[in-house]
Amino acid sequence: MNQIVEVLPDKAALINRALDLVVTKMQAAIQERDRCTIALAGGGTPKPLYEAIATQDLPWEKIHIFWGDERYVPADHPDSNQGMARSAWLSKVNIPETNIHPMPTDGVTPEADASKHEAQLYDFFKTSVGEFPQFDVILLGIGDDAHTASLFPNTEALHVRDRLVTVGNKDGQPRITFTAPLINQAHCIIFLVAGASKQTALSQIFASDADPMTYPARLIQPQGELWWLLDSEAGRWQEG
Ligand code: 6PG
Repeated sequence: MNQIVEVLPDKAALINRALDLVVTKMQAAIQERDRCTIALAGGGTPKPLYEAIATQDLPWEKIHIFWGDERYVPADHPDSNQGMARSAWLSKVNIPETNIHPMPTDGVTPEADASKHEAQLYDFFKTSVGEFPQFDVILLGIGDDAHTASLFPNTEALHVRDRLVTVGNKDGQPRITFTAPLINQAHCIIFLVAGASKQTALSQIFASDADPMTYPARLIQPQGELWWLLDSEAGRWQEG
């Protein structure tokens, strides 16, 4: 694992650095594979990044958008990660709708939708069942509790090793989420972390040993690149 940690002076600098890194990685993927597959993080931190990416002149027809997790709500619900990315970015660029691959949340059950999305991923990547597809870029955040995607502490989703997609559980609320093994296959993972409230989680994530069941972001140990972009508030975890 090739891990790089950068602490930026403030949130604006974090977003600018993230824009530079994400665009560079997308362009590199297109250079190498004539397409880029990127899975987006939800929550609040990445929204200004998505707004900034929307201003870039990129070959949108070669870029495929996925999500690492989704709240189990309709796309037009205020909590929808898909809805946030569409309004901040995707609605502002000329990207084909067929390049946007949202996690379904309108099925009979979250379990059925998780299986449906898993089938969509196998079909898109043309990988055989059991073979984990490799995303070019996966963007992630962490919660104050050190969850990432919708892999919440001490939940069933943390133990799922043979699936691409599973059902997460946030305080009884269902989520659809990539599994840790799928995330770990990515060529490049980029965590965006801002704010003092993340310091405790970071101190555990970077501890020499802590229980990944309690601090799920510790499960993210990719074979590829692992970038941590922190603002100075979050980065202060190192001051103890
Ligand atoms: C989600 C996200 C989640 C998020 C963290 C951090 O669906 O909420 O995917 O994992 O990245 O909760 O959220 P903030 O960026 O809002 O702090």
